[in-house]
Amino acid sequence: MVRIDILTVAPELLESPLGHSIPKRAQDKGAVEIHIHNLREYGKGRYRQTDDYAFGGAAGMVLMIEPIFTCIQMLQGERTYDEIIYLSPDGERLTQPCVNRLSMLANIIVLCGHYKGIDHRIREQLITKEISIGDYVLSGGEPAAAVLVDAIVRLLPGVISDETSALTDSFQDGLLAPPVYTRPKVFNGWRVPAVLLSGNHREIAEWHEEQALQRTQTLRPDLLTDEKIPS
Ligand code: ADE
Repeated sequence: MVRIDILTVAPELLESPLGHSIPKRAQDKGAVEIHIHNLREYGKGRYRQTDDYAFGGAAGMVLMIEPIFTCIQMLQGERTYDEIIYLSPDGERLTQPCVNRLSMLANIIVLCGHYKGIDHRIREQLITKEISIGDYVLSGGEPAAAVLVDAIVRLLPGVISDETSALTDSFQDGLLAPPVYTRPKVFNGWRVPAVLLSGNHREIAEWHEEQALQRTQTLRPDLLTDEKIPS
């Protein structure tokens, strides 16, 4: 069982993506516990303030240190966390090996930034890892948190019914996935490749491998390292 605590000022942005489909199934099956914490509940004063102007006159609001610190301290009082992740375009680019590693941890905190970001002292003192989902800027970390948590939970044992399914994903072997087809065999004159209808498992497996390699060479040559190209 993995436990993921997500800290956010916009919990509604996470409720739908994590409340349906595979993330919901993962929770229903007890493979993961996802707890969403509204930082506003830890906000300062009567107005539950969570953000303030940046010192030095920089444009935009900054998430304050106290609500985040109080929430993280409360959680750390209850259990030990393996990683405290901050989602940010400055972070390490999210890749499948990174997701694989995170899926083996027990307790993870995921902090979503908003506005211009969070008080930098949180990043210096409390965050153990910063992750980016790509070289573009989102208005908040929540969509990135949904991406990260989705990618983690689908790897947990028992979540995807076909045991081999997550292992044959694109990227699990460093290659793109081969194309897939379903009925009808012919639509509008467009045919499913004959080999897939042949019943010959060895030939089908070879075709899958060839296609994966070919597609990777064409679409993502950057993924190929020398040792993956058969001599
Ligand atoms: N927050 C804003 N932009 C982001 C990105 N690209 N990845 C992760 N978190 C973010």
